Amino acid sequence: MASPPSPSPVAPPARLVVLVSGSGTNLQALLDAIGDDPAYGAEIVAVGADRDGTGGVERAERAGIPTFVCKVKDHATRGAWDEALAALVAEHRPDLVVSAGFMKIVGPAFLAAFGGRTVNTHPALLPSFPGAHGVRDALAYGVKVTGCTVHFVDDGVDTGPIIAQGVVEVTEEDTPEGEAALHERIKEVERSLLVEAVGRIARDGHRIEGRKVHLGHVGE
Ligand code: GAR
Repeated sequence: MASPPSPSPVAPPARLVVLVSGSGTNLQALLDAIGDDPAYGAEIVAVGADRDGTGGVERAERAGIPTFVCKVKDHATRGAWDEALAALVAEHRPDLVVSAGFMKIVGPAFLAAFGGRTVNTHPALLPSFPGAHGVRDALAYGVKVTGCTVHFVDDGVDTGPIIAQGVVEVTEEDTPEGEAALHERIKEVERSLLVEAVGRIARDGHRIEGRKVHLGHVGE
């Protein structure tokens, strides 16, 4: 008699380390998506910040997730900070690092360890308006549409290969003084985009070819 087919092995969830500097609503969206849903395919194993008192770290603590803080000013040089950050992240053996509102540019040591598997989310349609003030710069330029970009991190400022983008209209009501309101509308789109992109990468894998990101089972 033929033996019953053996069940296909269930892949363990991808291990995520999330880096934050601010309120952590993108982190919260990931926490909510993961919830108790094994089908999401990922778990957050640690949350790190570059400063004290972030909402992001508070959210992680409430969720019972290990946290760490790695401040530039606690290190003799920027390079030493970069090495320390890479070491702290490495302790948690992530498959993927997610920079979710992390307002620092990582350096060579970090990229040597986690290049090609660090995802960043940015509140503008890259390559337009990179840097720390994407929303303000887009508003000041007078664009009619802006949005958000989820991309892999490389050694430039918001220059890495793009995974996904979401579009948000700029209206007559969006004055330069209304940066916060526009940013909130962008963040609504951004949270879903990040959850979707991270989930796809965690479940299906990815391949980067030049500037092109392919999601899906690598090698298929
Ligand atoms: C997000 O809009 C993210 O794109 C932005 O910070 C916000 C963090 O929100 N990041 C940058 O501007 C990086 N250049 P959150 O703390 O509520 O997730």
